[in-house]
Amino acid sequence: MADTPWKRKISKMISRHDLFASRFLQTCDIGIEPVQLQPFLMVIFGGAGDLTKRKLVPTLFHLYREKDLPADFSILGFARSALTDDQYRQLLREAVREFGEEAFDEAEWEDFGRHLFYLSGRFEEDRAYEELYRRIDQLSVSMKGNASNLMFYLSVPPQTTPLVVEQLKAHHLCQDRLTPKVIIEKPFGRDRNSAVVLNRVLTEAFKEEQIYRIDHYLGKETVQNIIFFRFSNSIFEQLWNRRYINNVQITVAEDLGIEHRSGFYEQSGVVRDIVQNHILQLIGLVAMEPPIGFDAEFIRDEKQKVFRSFHPMNEEAIDRFTVRGQYGPGTVGGRDACGYREEKGVAPDSTTPTFFAAKFYIANWRWTGVPFYVRTGKRLAKRITEIAIEFKQPPLRLFGRTCDTLESNILLLTLQPDEKIALRFGVKYPYSANQIYNVNMVFGYQDTFKTKFHHPYERLLVDCMKGDLTLFVRQDAIEAMWDIVDPIIARWESLPPPSCPNYPAGSWGPGDADLLLEQEDCCWITT
Ligand code: BG6
Repeated sequence: MADTPWKRKISKMISRHDLFASRFLQTCDIGIEPVQLQPFLMVIFGGAGDLTKRKLVPTLFHLYREKDLPADFSILGFARSALTDDQYRQLLREAVREFGEEAFDEAEWEDFGRHLFYLSGRFEEDRAYEELYRRIDQLSVSMKGNASNLMFYLSVPPQTTPLVVEQLKAHHLCQDRLTPKVIIEKPFGRDRNSAVVLNRVLTEAFKEEQIYRIDHYLGKETVQNIIFFRFSNSIFEQLWNRRYINNVQITVAEDLGIEHRSGFYEQSGVVRDIVQNHILQLIGLVAMEPPIGFDAEFIRDEKQKVFRSFHPMNEEAIDRFTVRGQYGPGTVGGRDACGYREEKGVAPDSTTPTFFAAKFYIANWRWTGVPFYVRTGKRLAKRITEIAIEFKQPPLRLFGRTCDTLESNILLLTLQPDEKIALRFGVKYPYSANQIYNVNMVFGYQDTFKTKFHHPYERLLVDCMKGDLTLFVRQDAIEAMWDIVDPIIARWESLPPPSCPNYPAGSWGPGDADLLLEQEDCCWITT
């Protein structure tokens, strides 16, 4: 193509910019071309379970249909049920038909199905791992020795993870001959101590760089965009600190209840389920300093500093600045919904919290004095995940009494479901003397890019295949995040049982969550 003046201008701009580039810039070279993945073998422990059927295999099949997977790959499901390879393919075929998000294609499934294999065994049985060793060799041979990219996906109940890891180690499947990656799902422990114990088991078998801890929020496009938005737009980054920001608000609201997960939820509750991981990761991205490059460790280091800077809450602060709730019967989206205590499998006198709100402070140079309000809950008025940045008011109200209620400027990042970024500011209402009218300048992802978002697992699986740890959680972060929430859980458990339920399904949670902000002349901001 001809060397046009425009092209010359761009290349001049790029070379000028390079002068100021981080010396780690080469790692920041994010290609938009699809990356060619190396052949791989993925062993799924719990290969016939719910997560495999609902998420993993539909996602892998989608990647296959998009031609994102290499020609050579094998997926070996490992579970207790006695199934042949063919029966396993049939089981997953039905699952993909049911849970896949796109029209099912029989011919493509036939091709994809040839890459699926099954190993029946109990996780505690030595024989099963000896057989696993053989199957890995065998599949590797049939892939012409190409199974060097080996992944173990632990889609098993959390209490089973240590057993599987210890067995893998005992059978020389961790480091001796192979250097597989191991992928694990939350929960990573149920408090700091159990997370440390789990980590000890993991790191006795694998090196930290082999361990991929999934927080599916990090696989969401709009969540990744937080740092792109912050660090590629000088207008916002200049204002991103205590001098200009009045408060930050994070809402992770769900209209769904606990679905069929009462067993898990009764043990976990909202803090372990959402706050310790998804919400704190969002705060990490909003509050972190610019990394010195785009490497996994640089980004994870910066988030870690945020977690370690959380102002510790003593009991008095916990009592004043946290709110818990549990939903009672109500109406969600026009339909009757039962209360939490009436859900199947929930104790009729359960006090498990399904709602959480709090005010946190981050005690570092950038953020000291800026409240971070968070709220999350099940069976709220609607499903929405949003980050609102409320800026400080102008220093002087110039517009007289009609403008006593001047609104702050607000930057709203709507992460789901209607993904957008809106900036709210005031303009003069036409023909009024001095009336301010607030308007929104909106960028909508769908309007601009006309593309449906992929499931977060897609990005996470591909990153794991590539060996990119950026979107996975490091162990020190897991421990630091438990340090933030452990005292809250402990304090709540030490108090007399709260009165439950305290918010109707379909509302925005208990009134105390509003008071938390009203005390500071603020209110929750949502689209
Ligand atoms: C999971 C929680 O981690 O996240 C669920 O265990 C919750 O309880 C889910 O419903 C929410 O994820 P998303 O992507 O729908 O916001």
